[in-house]
Amino acid sequence: MGAFSKAKIEWAPFAVCAPTEKAPYPRSLTTPEGLGDRLRFVAFAEKQAENAFFLAAHSYPALPESVKNTWLELSREEAKHLSWLLARMKELGVDPAARPQSLALWNSFDRCSTASEFALFMANAEERGRIAGEQFYETLLKTDSVTGELFRKIAEEEKMHIALARSVMQDLGI
Ligand SMILES: [Fe+2]
Ligand SMILES: [Fe+2]
Repeated sequence: MGAFSKAKIEWAPFAVCAPTEKAPYPRSLTTPEGLGDRLRFVAFAEKQAENAFFLAAHSYPALPESVKNTWLELSREEAKHLSWLLARMKELGVDPAARPQSLALWNSFDRCSTASEFALFMANAEERGRIAGEQFYETLLKTDSVTGELFRKIAEEEKMHIALARSVMQDLGI
């Protein structure tokens, strides 16, 4: 469809990689820099999810009203997660723009040529994000329980998103 890669998105406060640039590899999670890298990466994933749901709700033709409304609701929920993560980054002095983020995942949304394909793609992405969040929580339990707890809380809410994704798939007849 090309609607995603061609959309004009304001990625601030993040910096994004140039088309041929590779994102730097994250540093060790046992260092403050490495924790900053994870926070930045997860926050950017929320920013992409916010924009993807919003764009999908307005781009796919003949979308059932129920699906459109669910995607707009999910867009707002991902924006909330983003704001939580940015607040924690501010507390820790992590600059969102310190390292560029890859747009590879974002550009791959273009491959979702139908609403059903997008719904399946996002359901899988949400599940991967939920699992990663739970793993971060367990890793951070001893070193930074505040950030760990934030990852856990977000992972918990992603369960709700996955349930909503199932209802969307039903409405789309998948
Ligand atoms: Fe989220
Ligand atoms: Fe989500």
